[in-house]
Amino acid sequence: MPPGINFIFIRQPEPLGLGHAVLCAQPVVGEEPFAVLLADDLIDAKQPAIAQLIKAREENNGGNVLAVQTVPRELTKQYGIVEVNGEHEKCPTIRSIVEKPDPQVAPSTMAVIGRYVLEPEIFDSLRKIDRGAGGEIQLTDAIAREIPKGKTVACKYDGERFDCGSKQGFLNATVHYARKEGYRII
Ligand code: G1P
Repeated sequence: MPPGINFIFIRQPEPLGLGHAVLCAQPVVGEEPFAVLLADDLIDAKQPAIAQLIKAREENNGGNVLAVQTVPRELTKQYGIVEVNGEHEKCPTIRSIVEKPDPQVAPSTMAVIGRYVLEPEIFDSLRKIDRGAGGEIQLTDAIAREIPKGKTVACKYDGERFDCGSKQGFLNATVHYARKEGYRII
């Protein structure tokens, strides 16, 4: 464990979704901006993706920052999908966000990857929203409530991401890191 770090574990008593899991952490987060890292999204990057998001937040003078990557349209159903102002910018402002839209109705193919830096105001929104996609309390829906404040941006991080929530992604990650360690895969 790195020096100066404390781990505090919080149990989510019921599987009510990502938004609910984040809300369970409020007592330890308090009134400060905080990071959310979904461990099944593994990112290999020179500078950790979350550090890139924190930098973007600093440059933006606060606000929520979400990691994004473009995905094939047929996969929008697996992700939170954002619509942005100025899609060629590195960190464009988010105009709308929707959880797991069908490919035919997805507003774009810019998908949220499991790294977020969030303002503590998100907890108020998490408490106010109803259950969303899949009958779960969705972090995406709480973020949608924060967008009108105008300080929620998407960050196109530099790095290679592996979806370790799928068997193929887990295998790809294993091969990628093995190769980096100098193993020859035949
Ligand atoms: C969660 C979020 C989704 C996001 C995804 C990234 O979905 O709800 O918005 O795009 O993580 O991996 P899950 O993968 O838990 O279904």
